[in-house]
Amino acid sequence: MNRHITSKLIDGKAAAARVLAEATLEVRKMKAIGIEPALAVVLVGHDPASQVYVRNKVLRAEECGIRSLEHRLPADTREAELLALIAELNADASVHGILVQLPLPAHIDEHRVLQAVNPLKDVDGFHAENVGGLSQGREVLTPCTPAGCLRLLQDSCGDISGKHAVVIGRSNIVGKPMAALLLKAHCSVTVVHSKSANLRELCRQADILVAAVGRPRLVDADWLKPGAVVIDVGINRVDEDGRSRLVGDVDFDSALPQVSAITPVPGGVGPMTIAYLMKNTLAAARLQQPAPSTLALRTEATCPSIS
Ligand code: GUN
Repeated sequence: MNRHITSKLIDGKAAAARVLAEATLEVRKMKAIGIEPALAVVLVGHDPASQVYVRNKVLRAEECGIRSLEHRLPADTREAELLALIAELNADASVHGILVQLPLPAHIDEHRVLQAVNPLKDVDGFHAENVGGLSQGREVLTPCTPAGCLRLLQDSCGDISGKHAVVIGRSNIVGKPMAALLLKAHCSVTVVHSKSANLRELCRQADILVAAVGRPRLVDADWLKPGAVVIDVGINRVDEDGRSRLVGDVDFDSALPQVSAITPVPGGVGPMTIAYLMKNTLAAARLQQPAPSTLALRTEATCPSIS
């Protein structure tokens, strides 16, 4: 890879390492005043991808010094049993963050489960209280992937205020909270999706393009304004030339000459999601402290800090 290409790459692994170092330092400060941050991760069933994600979350937490509790439940767990576990974790003052890995088995009502998590322990930012707070521009626990994308943008572009950001995708996990965060960062935001008319023309107007649609290599050079910054959230497995590989929603090779910066897949957004889960766990721990300790730790904001 030549120097020209390297200079355009947004290195998510390096950025995540910086965020994790910040989190590790903050854990030490918390422990010094008697707070031992703890994250509970709940996995229902045996989805192979979810098992890998959960293992990585638990490992990363331990590396930062965050205590992790793993709850693996069988696929036929009744909704009432899962709700009872969440109630138990809500009531346990030594647990600061609760993450229920999605997707849940079809017989469980995802909304009811996410609403059962105490909003102050909701490290995914999926509770309606936090979703609403984010759309009001309040400092709340914010979904990890969009928070990580925003950090990548700020680290690589500096001030993004006034830029036109286009988000492809309207999921609750990425597209919608991403749009809210970009708006909070003073971007002009357009959200497009699979039913949008003139999808390509709208994308071509973007200074910042965030692709989170789950369609392998949907976006190529033709969709991009020269000099655009591209954040590719897609992680799509494709079988090509007899081998299986991961590709993004953006055709990286086609896009590269057209952009000023772009995240690769893998090694772009992925590592930032887990890093921000650690940040959110610490933010949750702070939110749960009585006022004096909270004030003592307020010097470093880890809830997304754009005013
Ligand atoms: N499944 C895919 N992405 C996520 C995420 O960000 N959080 C949870 N809990 N489950 C997921």
